[in-house]
Amino acid sequence: MGTPSAGGPGAPGAMWGGRFAAPADPLFRAVNDSLGVDWRLAREDIQGSIAWASGLERAGVLSRAEYDRLVEALKTVEHEAAECAGSPVESGAEDVHSWVEQRLIALVGDLGKKLHTGRSRNDQVATDFRLWLRAALDERAAELRAVRAALLRLAQRHDGVVMPGYTHLQRAQPILLAHWALAYEEMLFRDTARLRDARARVDECPLGCGALAGTAYPVDRAAIARDLAFAGPCANSLDAVASRDFALEALAASAICGVTLSRLAEDLILYFTDEFAFLRIADSMTSGSSLMPQKKNPDAIELLRAKCGRLCAEFQALAVVMKGLPLAYNKDMQEDKRGTFAAMDELSICLRVGARMLDAATFEAARCRTAALGGYANATDLADYLVERGVPFREAHDRVGRLVRVALARSVPLEDLPLETLRETCPELDEGVYARLSPEACLERRAALGGTAPQRVGEALRRSLARLEHEEAGQR
Ligand code: ARG
Repeated sequence: MGTPSAGGPGAPGAMWGGRFAAPADPLFRAVNDSLGVDWRLAREDIQGSIAWASGLERAGVLSRAEYDRLVEALKTVEHEAAECAGSPVESGAEDVHSWVEQRLIALVGDLGKKLHTGRSRNDQVATDFRLWLRAALDERAAELRAVRAALLRLAQRHDGVVMPGYTHLQRAQPILLAHWALAYEEMLFRDTARLRDARARVDECPLGCGALAGTAYPVDRAAIARDLAFAGPCANSLDAVASRDFALEALAASAICGVTLSRLAEDLILYFTDEFAFLRIADSMTSGSSLMPQKKNPDAIELLRAKCGRLCAEFQALAVVMKGLPLAYNKDMQEDKRGTFAAMDELSICLRVGARMLDAATFEAARCRTAALGGYANATDLADYLVERGVPFREAHDRVGRLVRVALARSVPLEDLPLETLRETCPELDEGVYARLSPEACLERRAALGGTAPQRVGEALRRSLARLEHEEAGQR
């Protein structure tokens, strides 16, 4: 492909050969070249180049005819890029910007050499990267909404299912399964909002800031930003080329979302064990063992739990690259893309698998209810019953604790203790107490806002469905 574009021997077709008398050492190129990574920015680089050509035309640097020819050639380059199976290493281009320019010059000769007037790869790469990340954040937000929709479907499919709620992974109080699902939906709602917040800061246009000091050509930066559908231009040229906090913020949001997914995965893994046996998962989303014929393993969910590590690490990796960098651009910043691409890819697969997994999940209602009956999860409600009969809560707590000990010694639940036994410790009790000890009664009483009472959960479910619907309508 293509003839070397510019003069000197820096690298075949390098953008900066003139000052150099000797060619680049292959080992230098091995560390310096980034085409293999930033090739993913080809489309954005061309989009940005078209916007820059238009800026130059409006500034009178390019004639209308030159602009038209450049745009046509850039579109041809875009097709060429789309045809490439992988990055075109054989071109010898150092990075995606050099490749696009090299192809442009091959197509339109000297006119191609005019495009870089007043532009630097520093404002160029920052623009490309922001364009790419903005689209990636939108895609991740849509995938997140799909996970939330799957959680809401799961809640609807399991209407009325009661399960134990846990603290310290010990059975604590009964809850509705839908309440559990809605808890994750709340967390993922905030994760979606964090991506949206990050997007707002990604959405500023560095183009027209040059290498660091601004461009010497009278381009209309606001118009360039508009052409690329950015909210507006970056305000300061040094900041525009030297900052990557927009990527850090996206990575932080992705890492936090990874933490949510990892916790959801952990719950599912536990519930899928024979010890819990709350959960069945379709065969298509599980795997077997090469040795043990009976095994059905939740591999995919375990990987959801594990990939959080990578997501957190990518934030840290870029934060450490950026800390201590003097203004403005430093080549260190070329390391921003690999990890950001990887994080967005990993988050995407996690979200897509997560949604599919939730749709493949069925909870065993009877088993969940039995577990909710055990572990004295209704002890708080017995204490509350005493409170209603005038016993101060701390005193009620102590007396019910003693009753739990009696029940434990007999290996029975509290509701199986006869009234006379209950009354030995709590003379205030009467027959009415038994009705209060069923899981359903325990749920019913958690009726303050945010609680697990069926009515509250029903309202919460409707609110979450409406919220999701509203967000999705906002995207259409
Ligand atoms: N490949 C480079 C990057 O990703 C492009 C910018 C190069 N700029 C420079 N002054 N060498 O950062």
